[in-house]
Amino acid sequence: MIRILGGRRLDGEVRISGAKNAALPAIFASLLTPEPLVLHNVPKLLDVETAVELVQALGKEVHWSNGTLRITGGEELRPEAPAELVQRMRASFLVLGPLVARIGQAKVALPGGCALGPRPVDFHLQGLARLGAQVEVGNGAVQAKATRLRGARVYLDFPSVGATEQLLLAGALAPGETVIVNPAREPEVVELAVLLQKMGAEVRWDLDRVTIRGTPRLSGAEHTIIPDRIEAGTYLLAGAITGGRVRALSVCPEHLRAFLDRLELAGAAIEVGPDWVEVQGPPRPKAVDFRTWPYPGFPTDLQPPMVALLARAEGRSTVTETVYAARFGHVEPLLQMGARIQVMGNVLVVEGVERLRGAQVEATDIRAGAALVLAALAAEGVSFVRGEHHLARGYENLGEKLCGLGAQVWEEQG
Ligand code: EPU
Repeated sequence: MIRILGGRRLDGEVRISGAKNAALPAIFASLLTPEPLVLHNVPKLLDVETAVELVQALGKEVHWSNGTLRITGGEELRPEAPAELVQRMRASFLVLGPLVARIGQAKVALPGGCALGPRPVDFHLQGLARLGAQVEVGNGAVQAKATRLRGARVYLDFPSVGATEQLLLAGALAPGETVIVNPAREPEVVELAVLLQKMGAEVRWDLDRVTIRGTPRLSGAEHTIIPDRIEAGTYLLAGAITGGRVRALSVCPEHLRAFLDRLELAGAAIEVGPDWVEVQGPPRPKAVDFRTWPYPGFPTDLQPPMVALLARAEGRSTVTETVYAARFGHVEPLLQMGARIQVMGNVLVVEGVERLRGAQVEATDIRAGAALVLAALAAEGVSFVRGEHHLARGYENLGEKLCGLGAQVWEEQG
């Protein structure tokens, strides 16, 4: 449980960690080669630990010290991903493509729905089938087989981050060209392509597609994980929601553009340096409308934290969630804290209130948890946020970083 005494203005600098969603596919890329893969700036998070356990279970050796992962071995890989690890973290499904590309067979449990609503994997499966895999779904798992994958053209109905990554990973070991039309262009996806290039694949981005030319054998590589834009956005919001001043260090400001644009409209003063962003929060935020969208649009992962800010804005904000069907796990607990929010299909109507009040609330996923922590920082009185393991999945040293900015936060048992 996290206990937060709200009402303090945050002030200071916070160093942003490596991006969870860039680290996970990079770790799975290690399955593509028996040569060493060295990853720097890897955040110490539960999800990263799950990814490490998973590649170990499949036959890799992992050495972790001071934010650097050295992944070696795995001349022989096991084809089956333990169901428990896939259920713990959806991104584990990304091992399907690398396994089938490298050893010709794979069995991975279906990840199923989650707190964000139904999240199918149909694009992943259709894409791998296009590359020549025989894919069967049954008994809660996917089995894929292929004597040899070969490059092919795949069109995505939606620029899915996971499906684009799955196909880049598989395509890297498939001879010929894999062309993904309508790919995701999130910075984490682009970084995976950069890593695969270092390993020997050729990647070209065009206006409507990404093309990867695979090779039968990939080499090892050394790679630094990009800064976590979602963690950066969360701390900048912590400054904004408390009317304080927070400078996020070691960030890539370019990755935060859509978010900073809306934050400025909400009344925050923003200063941008080469690798830092500083926010000075307004005494009370202004209402803003926004819609989540694939990159470079407003990231869905910052929707719940941004809603926490708008919950205490002056006026009515309309927030449209277009990436997920039901990413509204933060709404109910925010209501308990005195927010006024109505859910209308995929739209939230947020009537700002002057003050939020401390409450005992429960996080149901990583970003809903971040929204509750932000609301608690601004609320009157004490809040207890349960479900802290969700926060530990995505935020490295959250309590310590917030305390470094002057927040009153305690991580407690029970
Ligand atoms: N979708 C399908 N079929 C598919 C794949 C996706 O219908 O085969 C749908 C999903 O149901 C969803 C939408 O497409 O409605 C977008 O899903 P996407 O595949 O882009 O998301 P993801 O790869 O499952 C990653 C991040 C999420 C982030 C989304 C969107 C990782 C490990 N996860 O998920 O991050 O919200 O992209 O940007 O990279 C988080 O960090 O808290 C988190 C949930």
